Amino acid sequence: MLEINPTNLSTETANKLRLLIAHNNNPAFLDRKLTHILPPVMELRLTHNLIIDRESTENVKRYFVISNAPHDDLGIGATNRARRIIGAIEIDTTHASLTYQPISSKVVRITNIKKAQKAHQAQQTKYKHKAAVQAFKKHQPFTHLAMQQPVKRAAHIGRNSAFFFKKKSYTVMNELPGQNLGDEIADFITYIGPDTKTMLDVVLIPILEAYKRQVASTGKVHRDIKPGNINADLYKDTPSIINFLDFDSSLAIGDKDTGYGTLGYLAPEAMGGLTVAVTPARDIFSLGVLLISCINPDLSPESIVSERKINTSKEALQFMLTQLNTHLCYDPDQITTESNEHYELFNYINDGDDISEQLQQCRNQIKTLLKNMTSRYPEKRPAIDSVIAELKAASAMLTPSPSSTLSLSPSQ
Ligand SMILES: Nc1ncnc2c1ncn2[C@@H]1O[C@H](COP(=O)(O)OP(=O)(O)O)[C@@H](O)[C@H]1O
Ligand SMILES: [Mg+2]
Repeated sequence: MLEINPTNLSTETANKLRLLIAHNNNPAFLDRKLTHILPPVMELRLTHNLIIDRESTENVKRYFVISNAPHDDLGIGATNRARRIIGAIEIDTTHASLTYQPISSKVVRITNIKKAQKAHQAQQTKYKHKAAVQAFKKHQPFTHLAMQQPVKRAAHIGRNSAFFFKKKSYTVMNELPGQNLGDEIADFITYIGPDTKTMLDVVLIPILEAYKRQVASTGKVHRDIKPGNINADLYKDTPSIINFLDFDSSLAIGDKDTGYGTLGYLAPEAMGGLTVAVTPARDIFSLGVLLISCINPDLSPESIVSERKINTSKEALQFMLTQLNTHLCYDPDQITTESNEHYELFNYINDGDDISEQLQQCRNQIKTLLKNMTSRYPEKRPAIDSVIAELKAASAMLTPSPSSTLSLSPSQ
């Protein structure tokens, strides 16, 4: 059997691949696990999956080459996983030629991975490709993703798992640089050791500005803001890169739902299972919890739940509701450890031992804002513009730190 490696083609393999694609009438997906037959009798096998670029034209057809390498697996969520695209083959139909170029900054998001199949089976609902197409429609306003319409992996006979394979959907989109915000913050705190001003200018304000640009300006509510749905690349001296992702659950402002999101980041009015309005105030609540978790990762809901050895989602829900009902917000001053110790919001912030009055005032202002953002009452939460303005004002109170701040890169 002839093996075709699309990233390393000879004249012969390039030609065979071009004929195979033409013979199949431009299939949307070429599966590396299949034996492909090129008539009359030639058997071919691909080393990589190929997915059509829906932006290609009649004259120049493009297929993206999906990486198989474990390090190109970019992340996994409850229903999707993302893999890097490493190149593209271009078929010039007028000149009957096929060429390969390496490319970067595109990924494919695979929907209905094994983990999701299990969840769907548990709920006894069947996953359909249609669901990925519906989700894609929701992603369209979010232009930073440049998501293409999903492609279904073809069913084929003779494989045990054909039932599942035919239900997988593949969607090409822009690769969002960096890593998930939780991991990036852990690295940032360890290697940069930020002071309050750096935390404001490099982390908190850029997150809010990205939200304003990528989400609020589209008239949508994300509904599932949490570190795993944000990719970030943060350095002290270069502009921060923040990208929101996973818009499957986004809805328009004014729509109605029965609550949706991730416990801990979920606004209380959306917890009861009753029909409620989709409002930006719900995202503001999640952003408030997110910012608290950036300043002190020990205060993230994930960390609190694990520190307090809370195992079930029912207990977690109860814990969150008790916090919000007792303190009227996700109050960083009131959350305690299992042994009743308080956390200090600025514990990891490296301002030195001598806290000036100005700095204390600035920190208090940040704290008050975070308490308002996470208020139990949606009408008390400030709008995104005023959150940004207040944090900018807080930053303006502080002078930039001398560049002697601890600054190590992971390789040092
Ligand atoms: N465009 C992208 N660029 C880089 N990584 C991505 C991209 N889309 C998804 N990922 C990674 O894949 C993970 C799962 O994708 P996500 O869209 O959040 O799916 P789920 O709905 O299952 O949570 C994300 O947490 C992220 O790490
Ligand atoms: Mg996700």
